[in-house]
Amino acid sequence: MNITVVGQGYVGLVTAACLADWGHQVTGVDSDPGRISSLAGKQVPFHEPGLADLVARGVDVGRLAFERSSATLIESSDVVFLAVGTHDGNGGWQTSTVLACLQEIVPDVRDDAVVVIRSTLPPEFVGQLDEVVSEIRRQAGRGPIAVLMNPEFTREGAAIHDFMHPDRVVLGVSRDPDEIGVELLRVVYARAEAPVLVMPAMDAALAKLGSNLFLATKISFANEYASLCDRFGASIDNVVTAMSYDTRIGGQFLRAGVGFGGSCLPHQVTMTVRTAASVGVSVPLMAAVDEINHRRRSELVERLESLVDRPLDRSRIALLGLTFKPHTDDLRDAPSLTIARHLIDQGATVVAWDPMASARDRASEMIPQLRTVAHPEAALNGADAAAIVTEWPELRSIDWAAALETMRGNGIFDGRNVLDPNAMSAAGYRYDGFGRGLHEANPAVSRPAGTQTIVHDEWPVTAEAEGSDPASVPAAL
Ligand code: UGA
Repeated sequence: MNITVVGQGYVGLVTAACLADWGHQVTGVDSDPGRISSLAGKQVPFHEPGLADLVARGVDVGRLAFERSSATLIESSDVVFLAVGTHDGNGGWQTSTVLACLQEIVPDVRDDAVVVIRSTLPPEFVGQLDEVVSEIRRQAGRGPIAVLMNPEFTREGAAIHDFMHPDRVVLGVSRDPDEIGVELLRVVYARAEAPVLVMPAMDAALAKLGSNLFLATKISFANEYASLCDRFGASIDNVVTAMSYDTRIGGQFLRAGVGFGGSCLPHQVTMTVRTAASVGVSVPLMAAVDEINHRRRSELVERLESLVDRPLDRSRIALLGLTFKPHTDDLRDAPSLTIARHLIDQGATVVAWDPMASARDRASEMIPQLRTVAHPEAALNGADAAAIVTEWPELRSIDWAAALETMRGNGIFDGRNVLDPNAMSAAGYRYDGFGRGLHEANPAVSRPAGTQTIVHDEWPVTAEAEGSDPASVPAAL
């Protein structure tokens, strides 16, 4: 089957590469010529595990190509997917990009082909989709075509797995009187061992939105409940584990922490609150999910501050993790950025580590006062306290006892509940985490006041600290 995927961002490129791997003939198009030429050279512009290999394989076997859109390409396609952005960059929706793509592509689509929208669309636009496409066809002097929605449910960092092994494939019909579109998409997804659910386009759009809103609700529930655990001295880990054995509840997306970030969950929760208000529907649950999530970031700063022995404006904080989740280099709505800004606004020196060099570079561009280093040990060196914001696996293999020797203070706020609180307190840390309560440092290890390592307030991030060899991290002065 000949497939064109318009838009080569996270969603479009994963779709193109996976469909090519399933044996389809796929062309990825994008309005950015730089992106097209680097993809043609097998250079993937962002980090997604396994994607670079999949793209290289598709290009090498001749099933995956990248080029600018053209009438010839669209005419030769059985299926044209649209996977372009629908965020306005300010927490809202924008449909001008998808509209511009439809205007460019729809006139050239064959009568027996199908246009499939993979982008997440605002409900109002879904309601107008059939009319928008039909009008473009009328103006081009052409007959109607099939138009479907096919929402994606892939997670960044696990997108290839999620695409290849979906729980379900949802097809939302905007226009498909002869079921040409549904039949074509059944062939497209023949390799997916999952139920194919066919429904009206609006239902499919709200099913996609509802899935993300429900996941966000689970996270905010765990976070709100973690506050009660803190108050009553219970452990959120034990509480959630016990709850998760109930098959009606399950354990996923109940990890308490600094809350959800990324380009999907926060945006869709905020937009649902706004959209509902604009159509006169009350959604207090979603408003609470949003509020709980955003409050988490300032709570982390407050609790971190209580772990530091000196005023924030004279302290140095190690920020461990910048990306909104591990295994991606995506910083969109990452809690780390809000937290770094809060700390810097209060005068703290913030030294951030993340394993993704591209994320470190972009974070430094966005927050010029933020210092970034290539090793967690370099961030910890000289720090009064540390905050874990992203649960990168590297954090589990740090020699925390050795790191403590290089720190000025001993506080650690585990914003993702990844470390063992008892082990950390035994190693000499004052450890705190959401729903885990404060664990005082083992007095046998903690250094008596006055004998702590002295570090200059203007302690620089040295070239060695930013170097590639963790062993070269200098000891605190
Ligand atoms: C989310 C959905 O999970 C996907 O199904 C959906 O396709 C995608 O949005 C989308 O709409 O495109 P994604 O944003 O990539 O995927 O990331 P998630 O794995 O959902 O994580 C979102 C945030 O929630 C992260 O910041 C993560 O750290 C946080 N999270 C997740 C928690 O705080 N606790 C948890 O228990 C789980």
